[in-house]
Amino acid sequence: MKKNILIIGGSYGIGSAIINELGNDYHIFTASRTFDGRESPNLTYIEFDASRDSFDSTKLPDEIHGFVYCPGSINLKPFKMLDLEAFQEDFDINFLGMVRSLKAVMPKMAQQSSVVLFSTVAVQSGMPFHTSVAASKGAIEGFARSLAAEYAPKVRVNVIAPSLVDTPLAKRLLNNDNKREKMNERHPLKRVGKPEDIAKAATYLLSDDASWITGQVIGVDGGISTLNLT
Ligand SMILES: NC(=O)c1ccc[n+]([C@@H]2O[C@H](COP(=O)([O-])OP(=O)(O)OC[C@H]3O[C@@H](n4cnc5c(N)ncnc54)[C@H](OP(=O)(O)O)[C@@H]3O)[C@@H](O)[C@H]2O)c1
Repeated sequence: MKKNILIIGGSYGIGSAIINELGNDYHIFTASRTFDGRESPNLTYIEFDASRDSFDSTKLPDEIHGFVYCPGSINLKPFKMLDLEAFQEDFDINFLGMVRSLKAVMPKMAQQSSVVLFSTVAVQSGMPFHTSVAASKGAIEGFARSLAAEYAPKVRVNVIAPSLVDTPLAKRLLNNDNKREKMNERHPLKRVGKPEDIAKAATYLLSDDASWITGQVIGVDGGISTLNLT
């Protein structure tokens, strides 16, 4: 029997790349506000707004083997320009939307299932203008370690912390050759990420190949969080 994976936010960006990577080996449920229209007997679309709705888990089968939450933000501004509402919005979409969704799905998580969440390199490495997003992603890292402890050995919980990845979310940071060149150069591996780079890590964490990995925050970041080449 195919395993069931729920991806919140699979319509484009990293979530869409995860659907491609998972291929036909799983039945995938993808929940987002829009749908890219792709058709497959292994794919079920559920309309869902994580910033507003409670997730209706009756739309899922009785057992879920993998949960991935992709909605996020890159709201980069000096601290003095960020009002409280901006922090609240970032916290809502990055963290509370995830909690809302996962709370609804957790009762259906099967034995030896896997949760994959997204942080950012800016939690481990201080970067200017990242206070709001780093704070809400930092909450995810603490949450994930605690949840991993609470649900071991039944459910594994891991976090991927990417650096800049070429997706619609990052388009303002990569919308001309000059910016792209600078961003490529900042990474020890000399390029920004591709959605597939992250999707391969997520697919691994979802699979039984990662059955001894839980409570980890894994940097998939071109080396930027740990290497200093200057
Ligand atoms: N890209 C980067 O450089 C980067 C760097 C560090 C961390 N990350 C993290 O990696 C994760 C994935 O990023 P990404 O670049 O793939 O993002 P993206 O390009 O914005 O894609 C986000 C996905 O989530 C869905 N989504 C957004 N808001 C939603 C909502 N309110 N309700 C339901 N679905 C929603 C979107 O679909 P709809 O619009 O159809 O709802 C889309 O499918 C995020 O958590 C992000 O913070 C990304």
